[in-house]
Amino acid sequence: MTENESVGLSSPQEFKVAEAGEIADGGTKIINMVGRTIALFRIKNEYFAIANACLHRGGPLGEGEVRDYEVTCPWHGWKYNLLDGSFSMIPTLRVKTFKVKATIEGVFVEL
Ligand code: FES
Repeated sequence: MTENESVGLSSPQEFKVAEAGEIADGGTKIINMVGRTIALFRIKNEYFAIANACLHRGGPLGEGEVRDYEVTCPWHGWKYNLLDGSFSMIPTLRVKTFKVKATIEGVFVEL
């Protein structure tokens, strides 16, 4: 048993979620993996991954409009910062964010 197993922790793992160039600038991809649904956004050459569930009533954030690094939930309009997942009205409320790495081999999300 490793030290992490003994305290119930597991190391983060990277999962390939898109091919390099698969998502156009301004585009989004919804990913279902490891029991989670994640919304992956591309803005210019940066990628952002957040949980695809609004804190209000679970609206699909990956279907929301993106403007200035902020996504608007398509159901009732709550807005979230893609950099840190914070809700615009109460910044201490945050949707989960995930680290993203983009290489020539693809786009990887760390869980
Ligand atoms: S479910 Fe997102 S604003 Fe209501």
